[in-house]
Amino acid sequence: MTMSDGVSRRTVLKTGAAATAAGSIGLHISAARTATPPAMDGASPVVLRINGERYQLDLDPRTSLLDALREHLDLTGTKKGCDHGQCGACTVLIDGRRVLACLTLAVQVDARPVTTIEGLRGPDGGLHPMQQAFIDHDALQCGYCTPGQILSAVACLSEGHAGSVDEIREYMSGNLCRCAAYDGITAAIAAVAGLPAPGSEA
Ligand code: FES
Ligand code: FES
Repeated sequence: MTMSDGVSRRTVLKTGAAATAAGSIGLHISAARTATPPAMDGASPVVLRINGERYQLDLDPRTSLLDALREHLDLTGTKKGCDHGQCGACTVLIDGRRVLACLTLAVQVDARPVTTIEGLRGPDGGLHPMQQAFIDHDALQCGYCTPGQILSAVACLSEGHAGSVDEIREYMSGNLCRCAAYDGITAAIAAVAGLPAPGSEA
């Protein structure tokens, strides 16, 4: 074997390895491209009524209500926790009923009234009694889950599911709190519901 043969073989081997690596990368890229949803041409006109305001948007039909609020309307009070319907951080009210905005397409909402934490008001236009109760009962720590907790709590009462502390706990169980501020949250809702403070019954 001559030197030029050796160089030639090494060059061939290196080139082959590079080609194999490139092929492998290309495979991953193709796989990734295949896994990505195809881009959709055109946006759909969507009318949203948020906190009494009417918004006309052109959105990809796959846009969630959560992303429409946060990314298109700059209403970032509604939080994105899991984005998979498991934490409750994105809870908003539609027609007064609690809904997970991450699992709701904006186009599904149609023009039904949506209330986010930015639109929650008390009778005098100030804090809603539930917001005040959360402050009074120290019902938060980092506050990330709090907008969803408060909207869920408002609906829990209007649904008639705040008849006891146990019922409040049950019907608020879809809203998780990483800081475990559950005692304060329950106490705040119980106060607004006119129940005795949890733990004071005995
Ligand atoms: Fe919607 Fe977690 S962000 S349930
Ligand atoms: Fe921190 Fe609930 S207050 S996640």
